[in-house]
Amino acid sequence: MKKSLIALLLATFALGAVAHAGGDGGLVDRGRYLLAVGGCNDCHTPGFAQRGEQIPETERLTGMAVGFSGPWGVSYPANLRLVAAGLSESEWLARSRRGGLPPMPWGALKAMSDKDQRAVYRYLRHLGASGEAAPAALPPGAPIPTPHFVFVPQPPTTVTLGQLAH
Ligand code: HEC
Repeated sequence: MKKSLIALLLATFALGAVAHAGGDGGLVDRGRYLLAVGGCNDCHTPGFAQRGEQIPETERLTGMAVGFSGPWGVSYPANLRLVAAGLSESEWLARSRRGGLPPMPWGALKAMSDKDQRAVYRYLRHLGASGEAAPAALPPGAPIPTPHFVFVPQPPTTVTLGQLAH
């Protein structure tokens, strides 16, 4: 009798420990890892390309109001925390699979397993909603009211022999 009571208590503690670890089978940690190796902060976190790891995790992935301009018009890296906060997990999966405009690496996102997609979502929900939504994409030829990178190949610049000597 006493033994089974102890076993029950131990089992309860073990379950408590699992719940404490997030109860998500490590999905939040996996999501954190995937966003790091996926280079997602480079576009989705303002200033990340310049300041990198100095930007605290709590301030990351809030999107950028600096657009990417090309033949597709202008696209803006979304505030992923707000997008995730506004979607259910299955809506997130459908959104990620649908794709969209360059230079977002849609192929990388589509290649993720459902489990990894869910991990990314859980991590973003774990960070929570923060910041403003990124501006909506613009069609080709529309006036561009924000700073933007021009994502169009440029011809080579002329290099003189004198410059090569330096
Ligand atoms: C080269 C810059 C760049 C990188 C790197 C990048 N993104 Fe994006 N992302 C964008 C842009 C630009 C958009 C907006 C695309 C559009 O309007 O269709 C976007 C849109 C998205 C969206 C759609 C959000 C919505 O509004 O529905 C998701 C989800 C997303 N990115 C996830 C990721 C993840 C996850 C990674 C890392 C694996 C990543 N992105 C890496 C530029 C980037």
